[in-house]
Amino acid sequence: MPLEITWFGHAGFLLQAGAHAVAIDPFLTGNPVAKQRPQDIRCGHIVLTHGHADHLGDTVAIAKANRATVYAAFEITEYLGQQGVEKLEPGNPGGKIKTDFGFVAFTPAFHSSSYDGRYLGMPCGVIVNLGGVTLYHCGDTALFSDMKLLGEIYKPDIACIPIGDRFTMGPELGAKAAEFIRPKVAIPIHYKTWPLLVQDASAFRPQGVEVKLLDPGETWTPSPADRRSSL
Ligand code: NI
Ligand code: MN
Repeated sequence: MPLEITWFGHAGFLLQAGAHAVAIDPFLTGNPVAKQRPQDIRCGHIVLTHGHADHLGDTVAIAKANRATVYAAFEITEYLGQQGVEKLEPGNPGGKIKTDFGFVAFTPAFHSSSYDGRYLGMPCGVIVNLGGVTLYHCGDTALFSDMKLLGEIYKPDIACIPIGDRFTMGPELGAKAAEFIRPKVAIPIHYKTWPLLVQDASAFRPQGVEVKLLDPGETWTPSPADRRSSL
């Protein structure tokens, strides 16, 4: 069953393969570039990189409406439990959770994580395996050399890399991250959402990695040739 990848704009995605749908960082309400509304989202699983409002987003509403399971840092799942979200899978960097669709793993990210003044644990990147495809969403992060190691271990087909600068890497450092991770395809994210962020991806030019630019709301189905295992 082929994987379909829909970008919500900013850092959010919906991954769908057969009966399984996984949302990552579903920030729609207040997202100036989003085309979807929270009530449009059908998913059984939600994966969060960290607790900032532009990532936690509409998680509570979407989780409740879909009775979805949320995978996130321990402190985020504690917070979501207090908000009435019932199905929670806490984790932390270095950990991996086997699921009915594949797995979710948490990686380090150099950033912060809080919501409404509340500390929400370690920020993470996430690696999601679904529909035979492995996707590394770096979360919000600085460049770090262990990305090379994560690329060697997980061999992601696709990497979603923040390039907006100021709060994360900019395009030049993001390109270096892609060269460390060595996915088949890199999707730049966390840019052009607001005027404070880098407005285009023209300076994101990693060597040896295909760049896939998506528009907010766009769905892309990677072909078998876009998988690293086909190299
Ligand atoms: Ni953040
Ligand atoms: Mn962010």
